[in-house]
Amino acid sequence: MLVLGLESSCDETAVALYDTAGGLLAHILHSQIPLHAEYGGVVPELASRDHVRKTLPLVRALLDDAGVKASDINGLAYTAGPGLVGALLVGAAIGRALAWSWGVPAIGIHHMEGHLLAPMLEDPAPEFPFIALLVSGGHSLLVQVDGVGSYRILGDTLDDAAGEAFDKTAKLLGLNYPGGPALAALALQGDSTRFRFPRPMTDRPGLDFSFSGLKTFALTTFQNSAGDDQTRADIARAFEDAVVETFVIKCRRAVQQTGIQRLVVAGGVGANRSLRKALREMMDELGAEVFYPRLEFCGDNGAMIAYAGACRLLAGQRQDLAVEVRPRWSLEELPAV
Ligand code: KG4
Ligand code: ZN
Repeated sequence: MLVLGLESSCDETAVALYDTAGGLLAHILHSQIPLHAEYGGVVPELASRDHVRKTLPLVRALLDDAGVKASDINGLAYTAGPGLVGALLVGAAIGRALAWSWGVPAIGIHHMEGHLLAPMLEDPAPEFPFIALLVSGGHSLLVQVDGVGSYRILGDTLDDAAGEAFDKTAKLLGLNYPGGPALAALALQGDSTRFRFPRPMTDRPGLDFSFSGLKTFALTTFQNSAGDDQTRADIARAFEDAVVETFVIKCRRAVQQTGIQRLVVAGGVGANRSLRKALREMMDELGAEVFYPRLEFCGDNGAMIAYAGACRLLAGQRQDLAVEVRPRWSLEELPAV
């Protein structure tokens, strides 16, 4: 079964072709970063308009790249939520309309299901069950994954998501949007012994997170300093160390609590090299396995949506003709496959 995947939930337009027999055939991503950069963050209306402009040309380029005709496609998957409502509606309307005109079934995919299944595109792919640490701009979740669609949330953030905390802290250090990668780069020049930030909610049982206090901690530390370049780097380093160690502590706890010896790390913050290294070391120490998507599939991409869609369409799941999106949507509401 050949499935076209469309991702348009935020500031990336991404398309991919996944074949259940041949694997991933092609994928293309168009980033809107230059469009939003001058505003310091994503402007929803500009995002929607750019998805309108880019989606169909990207689909055409994708089919050319893969040497595939529209008539070869057997199903269509688009991101139906969570995300920006206007941006989601563009992908859903185009996806639904293409599927109707091609006479193939369509399915709306949960964006975070896409992220958590992204490591399935790698070799070796994780086996079920596994624990997923999902760390993106909008989410910080620990999920027990028993199979496609069988998700139990073990931990969630009480306030800011990890990526959001990276972005906000980066902004107050004067770094450009999106701040996560910029802050990580600055942290490389930082001295890890100068400041020590708290590891939020690690001193009590449970798997929930809270990151908004770290941003405030960074702000007060910055305001009480000379504001020089070395201090900015030292704050970036202290912030990143705190986030990374918090995730290491919670992931170790999740593995020990569930007895599940496999961890998947996905979402944009999963591209963070310090996080990847620290989690690998911790999982090695436990004699357990950790799986990551390739770096380009940590952030938003079409491949993860095409893959999740293929799993669901192959199982006979379909969407009716209505164009529906869910800006808020819990992973636990999804039907099992
Ligand atoms: O998954 P994603 O591309 O989009 C959402 O679904 O939100 O995640 C984007 C987030 C942004 O907050 C970005 O700053 C963060 O991931 N990010 C990083 C890194 N690369 C991207 N955060 C920390 N270190 C990185 N290397
Ligand atoms: Zn995402």
